[in-house]
Amino acid sequence: APVLASTRAELAALLAGARRAGRPVGFVPTMGALHEGHASLMRVARERVGDGPVVVSIFVNPMQFGSGEDLDRYPRTLDADLEICGGEGVDIVFAPSVQEMYPHGVPAADKEPDGVTVVPAPGLADVLEGAVRPGHFRGVLTVVAKLFGLVRPDVAVFGQKDYQQLALIRRMAEDLCMGVEVVGAETQRDADGLALSSRNRYLSVEERATALSLSAALRAAIAAGPDGVQLALDAAHAVLAKESGVDLDYLVITRTDLGRLTDDADHPFQGEARILVAARVGTTRLIDNLPIQIG
Ligand code: PAJ
Repeated sequence: APVLASTRAELAALLAGARRAGRPVGFVPTMGALHEGHASLMRVARERVGDGPVVVSIFVNPMQFGSGEDLDRYPRTLDADLEICGGEGVDIVFAPSVQEMYPHGVPAADKEPDGVTVVPAPGLADVLEGAVRPGHFRGVLTVVAKLFGLVRPDVAVFGQKDYQQLALIRRMAEDLCMGVEVVGAETQRDADGLALSSRNRYLSVEERATALSLSAALRAAIAAGPDGVQLALDAAHAVLAKESGVDLDYLVITRTDLGRLTDDADHPFQGEARILVAARVGTTRLIDNLPIQIG
């Protein structure tokens, strides 16, 4: 079973031996309510560090939730989470309190906070998820930077499920010379295609059926990819239009780096791209994305 650390000092003590021995440290940051998607990240981390320690953090980061978002009702399932970590051979679970992570208080993410250092997110943070959730990525980058400082991992594993988050963290690690290799792992899905998410447990049976149209729309677009960007988007919209309960935030095809792609009649885009969707089903917000080959 993994050892549970709830303070920075406990974590440091647990990691000291591995560091002295020069063993690589693997790290999987999470907000808990763990599922097979998180477990797959733990396996990737294990593969990368061999007999070095794998650390999983469980921390529902208040800084990345906007007012009116689901911070208070975010699922907290520590016992079940420890089970899952144990099953994957995780060595250390770091589950700090808010006070332990933010001893000077939780900085506001949606305005310039006073007297505390945060990690401002670059322009990429203002589109897609960032446009719908102002300040969200500043909260994510700030907590991940703090966690990297505490764990000092050699390898950190994140899911492609949160594609924009992965891109921003990769960029932060590079730009701020954090000396950690950021690895992106594939999205795990239920057999019917629904991307696993801690928020799926909010869905009623009918909502879950409705939510399936998100991944179905992505697959329809991918099938139409050879016909070009516009027809691929049309195919996805046609799938979503069949469901009344999907409140769409965005459905876009971007470059693989999330940059805007140029696509017009004279210069149709061709090549590898990314298709991303975000929608609310009932009161639950869901996101998904996949690679798509255009042309
Ligand atoms: P959380 O939503 O708990 O996700 C933790 C990690 O699991 C993220 O890297 C996420 O992309 C990955 N993940 C979630 N669902 C997945 C799936 N179906 N398949 C593969 N990977 C999946 O993302 C966060 O927490 C937070 O923003 C965090 C990075 C921990 C910072 O607070």
